[in-house]
Amino acid sequence: MKKHIIVGISGGIAVYKALDLISKLKKSGYDITVVMTENATKFVNPISFEIISQNYVVKDTFENYVKGKVEHIELAKSADLLIVVPATANIIGKVANGIADDILSTTILATKATKIFAPAMNTMMYENDIVQDNIKYLKTKGYKFIEPASGMLACGDVGKGKLPSTDIIYDYITSVLNINQDLKDRTILITAGPTIEPIDPMRYITNHSTGKMGYSIAQCAINRGANVILISGPTNLDPPPLAKVINIKTANEMYTQVHKYFNEADIVIKTAAVADYRPELEQKEKIKKSDDNLTLKLVSNKDILKSLGEIKKDKVLVGFAAETRDLITYAKEKILKKNLDFIVANDISREGAGFGVDTNIASIIKSNDEIISYPKISKSELADIILTEAKSYLPHS
Ligand code: PMT
Repeated sequence: MKKHIIVGISGGIAVYKALDLISKLKKSGYDITVVMTENATKFVNPISFEIISQNYVVKDTFENYVKGKVEHIELAKSADLLIVVPATANIIGKVANGIADDILSTTILATKATKIFAPAMNTMMYENDIVQDNIKYLKTKGYKFIEPASGMLACGDVGKGKLPSTDIIYDYITSVLNINQDLKDRTILITAGPTIEPIDPMRYITNHSTGKMGYSIAQCAINRGANVILISGPTNLDPPPLAKVINIKTANEMYTQVHKYFNEADIVIKTAAVADYRPELEQKEKIKKSDDNLTLKLVSNKDILKSLGEIKKDKVLVGFAAETRDLITYAKEKILKKNLDFIVANDISREGAGFGVDTNIASIIKSNDEIISYPKISKSELADIILTEAKSYLPHS
């Protein structure tokens, strides 16, 4: 049976973004009922929501009265999940105080379904102690909150309070509904993004990794019920809301954090593009330009994956190999050298593969030399394939 999601809309400038979210949910086959507060209807005409959700929009407690039926109770009973997007300080405050004075607040209080708020408001309002206390209180009652993003707000202020991208909200919803929970109770440690190795306070060495591959694996693992520890170099991506995120900059910092969390993990997937070398000395002052050439001495960074291979035991260890030639030969060498269960090899010189793009072209090479090659597929699809493969190596899987 199709899952039924109630999308509650309260009145804020981000109301229009809910249209995109509902469109994505509809395309994925969910039944949607939109419930709007009166203020929300002033931002976007309910007709737009009616067309996108292919369902009538509930906006008045008494409008669709059918004899003997109490609409908000009927609705509340039929929901698998209720999300309020955007959630204003007002609706959060009402629910925290048990106030039920319109169709949305009554439906929220009446439903036993999982309830999620995606707050969006001015930073000062969001950071106001009263709003924060309400959020904390609702969390203790099992309500889930999607952290707002930071940036330029509609009012011109800069700070926290923006509605996160609809992709993030969509992923959050699907992970909560958890279509396939096959990694439930498993912990997966994923590294993602580049490392940066400082030369002086102004300059550093890095590479082209954007974190997309690693973040896709993190999101898919969460969708499949896993606990995810994401150790990430600097990226411009919003991390999956349910991941435990550890931000690092250098390879040395990544080494420390990976070893700190290694024992908690059942599976480790090392997607990060770790710098193999770092400047021998990090200059404390900016190196001044002169007419002379400058020679930078680089020293090797520790090989993090190899160090994990030495203490692996029954953990599943997955590496990536980024090459521009002799992909399979080099990848096989890495399996042996780093004691991996399998490696995901991508030729980063091919169009649609490797750094920065949303797709990848990869081969999974196993320690028994079996090779499975995939055509160009999305990084999310590849992530699911990698996780399914990794799961098959788990003891008692
Ligand atoms: O982030 P995106 O823009 O989406 O790009 C994705 C990607 C190209 C970064 C990804 O698909 C990928 O190939 N990641 C591995 C990059 C890499 O460093 O490959 P490598 O062949 O140099 O390293 C082999 C393995 O050893 C990797 O798992 C790496 O994380 C690990 N390693 C490498 C060096 C080191 N000092 N420590 C390590 O743990």
